[in-house]
This record gives sequence, structure tokens and C-alpha cells, in this order.
Amino acid sequence: MKGLYTSILSADFSNLKSEIKLVEKAGVQGIHCDIMDGNFVPNISYGPMIVSCVNKITNLPLDVHLMIDNCDLYIKNFAEAGADYISVHFENNIHLHRTVSLIKSFKIKAGVAINPSTPVSFLVDILPFIDFVLVMSVNPGFGGQNFIETTLEKIKTLRELIINKNYNCHIQVDGGIDAVNVKTIRNAGADMFVAGASIFRAKDKLKAAKSILKEINSK
Ligand code: DX5
Ligand code: ZN
Repeated sequence: MKGLYTSILSADFSNLKSEIKLVEKAGVQGIHCDIMDGNFVPNISYGPMIVSCVNKITNLPLDVHLMIDNCDLYIKNFAEAGADYISVHFENNIHLHRTVSLIKSFKIKAGVAINPSTPVSFLVDILPFIDFVLVMSVNPGFGGQNFIETTLEKIKTLRELIINKNYNCHIQVDGGIDAVNVKTIRNAGADMFVAGASIFRAKDKLKAAKSILKEINSK
């Protein structure tokens, strides 16, 4: 599960196939799909229909980030659309253990996402049940925002928590990641990185993806 996941939110959807083939060529580990409902976040993106189209385009794992209310109603649809990982937010999923169990019942890797203002300590009781935590480094809703620096401390605290308890849990970071800051984020303890704008809004997208990968895998 470790590695770079490209968020297609900033991709050119009129050329989605070639955009995805390009990041495949760069060697990324998966495609991050941002699902927004205009309620939990102030933006609307796309749903299971597009995820199932992406699934036809690529064999890379599909990492579905749900920024929607009433997640339990839609998890089956995303499972059928081809999701390999699904993350839901801590903030709007009151029965989190039930939701995580539902995700796992489809043999899908389960993640819990936290907003920049949500402390990692709130995750203590769900950590043993999940495959990854998604630490948001921007306020969810839009691509192309700046990385919030205080996220680094949160990643460090979370990594310590995971090590101390010997949990098998990855740390994914999402928002404002580029080739300049990704190594610092890795060194803080993250091992899954989401990047959208820094790749899809770059002049040379292939080069942009490759340079982030190079930083992730550097010493
Ligand atoms: C924000 C999304 C992110 C976003 C990342 O709500 O969850 O996945 O698209 O994009 P960049 O890399 O542009 O911040
Ligand atoms: Zn995301």
C-alpha cells in the first residue's frame, strides 16, 4: 500500500484515459478518487459511475476518499465500482466501527480520514481495526491548496502511537504535496502520499510525478 497515489481531481476529465496512462507510465502506486457531495465539503465531484470507468482504464489500485454524508449507503456502490481502498471521515461518521466493518466486509482496505483541526488522539480506539489513516493536510473540498505545516506534528504523533501499539496501519497524507515537501512528510512518518495539482497542473506531468516518486524513494 505504500507509495504515491495521484488524485485525478485536478486531471483533465475530457482526456481522463491519457491522464491516467501518463501517471501509470511514471510508476505511481494507485489512483486516488475524491468523492464530494456538496454537503460534507463545499464542492461536488463525481460518484461510482466515474470510479467504475477509471477501473476499466487501469489495473492500478483505486483509492476512494469519501467526503460525503451517509457513507454507509454508498459503500456497496463503490465496492462494485472497483474500489480497492475506501476512506471515510472521522468527523461525519458517528458509528465509525460499523462503517469500517462494512468496508472490510467487501474485502476492501479501510481507512479513516481526519481534517486538519481533528486531533489524532481521537483515533485511538479505531486504529486496531483500520489499514490506514488519511491525515488531511488541507481542508477537504478542493485541489491545489497549500500544505498546512502543522500536519507534520500530527503525523509524528500518529506514527509514535502506531509503533507503540505495534499496529499494522499505514499513514496517508493528502493535500498540497509536491516534490519539495514530500520528503519532509515521509520523514515525519507517512508512507502513502496523495498528489493532485502538483502533477496534473504541471507543464510536464510525467516529469512532475517522477520527481515526487524520486523524493519518496530517496535516502
Ligand atoms: C482535497 C482532496 C485531495 C486533493 C489533493 O479535498 O481530498 O485529494 O485533490 O490535491 P492536491 O494535491 O491538489 O492538494
Ligand atoms: Zn483526497
